[in-house]
Amino acid sequence: MTQPDWAPDDIDIDRPSASRIYDVWLGGSHNFEVDREIARKTELAWPDAVRYARANRAFLGRAVRFLAAQGIRQFLDIGSGIPTANNVHEVARRVDPQARVVYVDIDPVAVAHSRAILAGDDRTAVIQADLRQPRDILEQVRDGGLLDLTQPTALLLVALLHFVPDSDDPHGAIARLTGGMPSGSCLVVTQGAHGASDESDEEIRELYRRTPTPLTARDRAETERFFTGFELVDPGLVNLPDWRPDPIETVDDRYRGALVYAGVGRKR
Ligand SMILES: C[S@@+](CC[C@H](N)C(=O)[O-])C[C@H]1O[C@@H](n2cnc3c(N)ncnc32)[C@H](O)[C@@H]1O
Repeated sequence: MTQPDWAPDDIDIDRPSASRIYDVWLGGSHNFEVDREIARKTELAWPDAVRYARANRAFLGRAVRFLAAQGIRQFLDIGSGIPTANNVHEVARRVDPQARVVYVDIDPVAVAHSRAILAGDDRTAVIQADLRQPRDILEQVRDGGLLDLTQPTALLLVALLHFVPDSDDPHGAIARLTGGMPSGSCLVVTQGAHGASDESDEEIRELYRRTPTPLTARDRAETERFFTGFELVDPGLVNLPDWRPDPIETVDDRYRGALVYAGVGRKR
């Protein structure tokens, strides 16, 4: 197929990517046939994938609104994805127009599209980087000068950690990224749990093995371990629609068809 204008030259358009599959489910237009094929096949094994994506986005919005209302003005959003509705800076700025956001993603399409829509916005920045290289992220954030990580900051890892296996030490990355942040800084996580059956789990894992970021499901205890050094705020680690639900959200946003852990922690 031919490369559309919005696609960076150096990407492999024959290999699906997690960010573009998620874009398919959110109704976006920055995806290729390979992504749509994996999205369709995943939906056969997990018919609620679209509802999950919407519920995850709705949780992200609620968490950012909560943090902004608590006085957080800096957001480091890793695995930020392809921009869509209610991006982090838009939600935070409804509370305080001075809120600053650094978006980080490993995926070149997510980074290129984020840069395109945020060009000229001096309270956001976009970095191409890998959670597994936390030093590189910290260096790029410091060099950019937009966030002062000695001030309270929220680290957002939303629908990201299930793309990082334990062998790549996501716990170490979180410790390094948040180690220099002051008490009162926050960590936001959503993490896919094991699904309805071993068979459907394996089908989905098999599909994502075609992407550069295969899937790792985690149980409650494994997910809670990401919050080491943080205190979970009420209601703790819960299925994502149950985290401070908002009565004005649609039924889809409150989808309960799969267990996806969601939590917000405050650094002690
Ligand atoms: C499902 S999307 C989530 C987007 C957004 N956080 C949300 O919840 O709406 C996951 C994103 O994580 C990115 N990602 C996966 N592995 C990553 C890594 N090691 N470092 C940085 N980003 C990564 C993918 O490229 C993708 O854009």
